[in-house]
Amino acid sequence: MYVYRPHDKQLLSERVAQFRDQTRRYLDGQLSNDEFLPLRLQNGLYIQRYAPMLRVSVPYGMLSSTQLRMLGRIAREWDKGYAHVSTRQNIQYNWPDLEDVPDILAALAEVEMHAIQTSGNCIRNVTTDEFAGINAAEIEDPRPWCEIIRQWATFNPEFAYLPRKFKIAVNAVPDADPALIGVHDIGVQVVHRDGETGFRVLAGGGLGRTPMVGEVIGDFVPWPHLLSYLEAILRVYNKYGNRDNKYKARIKILVKALGAEKFRALTEAEFAELKDGPMTLTADEVDTMRGHFSTPAYDTALGQRPAALEEALASNKAFNRWFHTNVTAHRQPGYAAVTLTLKKTGRAPGDITDEELDAVADLAETYSFAEARTTHQQNIVLGDVRQDQLFPLWEKLDALGFATPNLKLLTDMIACPGGDFCSLANAKSIPIAEAIQRHFDDMDYLHDLGPIDVNISGCMNACGHHHIGHIGILGVDKKGREYYQITLGGRGDKVSKIGEKLGPSFDADQVVPVIARLVDLYVEQRKPDELFVDTYERLGIEPFKERAYATDH
Ligand code: HEM
Ligand code: SF4
Repeated sequence: MYVYRPHDKQLLSERVAQFRDQTRRYLDGQLSNDEFLPLRLQNGLYIQRYAPMLRVSVPYGMLSSTQLRMLGRIAREWDKGYAHVSTRQNIQYNWPDLEDVPDILAALAEVEMHAIQTSGNCIRNVTTDEFAGINAAEIEDPRPWCEIIRQWATFNPEFAYLPRKFKIAVNAVPDADPALIGVHDIGVQVVHRDGETGFRVLAGGGLGRTPMVGEVIGDFVPWPHLLSYLEAILRVYNKYGNRDNKYKARIKILVKALGAEKFRALTEAEFAELKDGPMTLTADEVDTMRGHFSTPAYDTALGQRPAALEEALASNKAFNRWFHTNVTAHRQPGYAAVTLTLKKTGRAPGDITDEELDAVADLAETYSFAEARTTHQQNIVLGDVRQDQLFPLWEKLDALGFATPNLKLLTDMIACPGGDFCSLANAKSIPIAEAIQRHFDDMDYLHDLGPIDVNISGCMNACGHHHIGHIGILGVDKKGREYYQITLGGRGDKVSKIGEKLGPSFDADQVVPVIARLVDLYVEQRKPDELFVDTYERLGIEPFKERAYATDH
């Protein structure tokens, strides 16, 4: 994990002092709402339906146990006892009092965290695969590249006033996209060519209004030029991006309007100016950064599948099921990654209480080198668990209610806060998630169905990633009433693909029966081992449409 240097710490404490003063002046009436707005946004603070919302940055989703405990303390002392894991791996607080925010930021700074660049028209938190560094399929650890990008982007004055917010993700797994780079403003794919590291760079992806998959702009950017190349893309965006209309301001609209070829040519022209300049990375710098992500002290004497694990798998059915659902292979023999699904029925997906944050910190210390990771599916991962410790860990997770074996299954939903908290919402999303979870409560049936991503957003901003859900649910408003539009066939796994609209939207009470009918059709039509989304791709939308709107079914 990246450990702050003295100047990083100084930067944060100066920022906290500055915001404390700005907040004081606002509360004293010396700053108007309009004057305070950009200042609070620069510190991750939105004003929402009922209260401010504070978004805390979690670079590439990595958290130490000390940070987890601080997040728990903040939830307890300054919020309503819980925090929320967002689809960009950040942590959000829904109920802080404005006057407490400087204290919260000071508490965060104590553990090397902040809320800088988590909102506003700037480069946001850089994300990657939640299994970065432990995924056997990746060609190298993407996190040092994320950290290099993060340091370049933080307080970069040239990119402090972009036309719109900007999201960068890095993926180092070939033939799969666990970081969802296809739907980011810039997606960076780590590739090796002739023994050299380089990057395939995509630009112009994004969800929200007008969802799009990014276009390849740089086919192979050698590693020393990563920052110069990214800077070239951002310059083109800064120069030509639309600043008149917020809805046309994202880079995806620019790439689409110019066409990938023109955009590439403009980028190459900027890159020619920047190449070999001061931003060129050196082997020393990259090595130093890699040093921050050194391998934990694994026991290298361990082999695969210890006897203790085999025995537990053979003797305990519930553990066996959880192992096959929520445990992921690890590149280090004898270790595994464990996902805790934060999807308890009756609670908003991604919510975690202060006590649970403390408990996860304890478990991370006992079982996982004192580290955990947040995921874009709003879950938490303990990344480095010895396989012979999986059974005792599972027992503890079970007692905490974190061992529901539903990772990637239909009830492991992504959902935005929707109308319950968000002032932009057209409809509620949390009660829809809950209704689906209550209906599909038979674990055997869920396992039989296999992986199905259900993603729910309360409006077209798509915080809940509905476009890339195998089943997407979007809240829409028609004359003051809440309806739900279903999309099918979206995906964010091997490739990013935007789902297709099924047809007219449904009443809230129709969502569960419609999903049940779509799933029934899948069960009737699937080939052995075929996923829901693959059956959908094979059959096309028509039979699903027919079934969803069938009245005699
Ligand atoms: C309650 C406060 C929130 C507000 C006011 C808010 C606002 C927005 C807005 C305005 C957009 C659209 C931006 C655009 O036009 O491109 C957006 C997109 C997004 N938001 Fe939120 N959001 C909130 C909460 C969340 C939460 C809780 C999550 C995660 C669960 C989230 C994650 C995202 C993501 C991933 C996008 C995707 C947009 C893209 O890729 O283009 N937001 N949000
Ligand atoms: S999708 Fe819409 S309703 Fe949901 S959090 Fe985002 S802005 Fe709010």
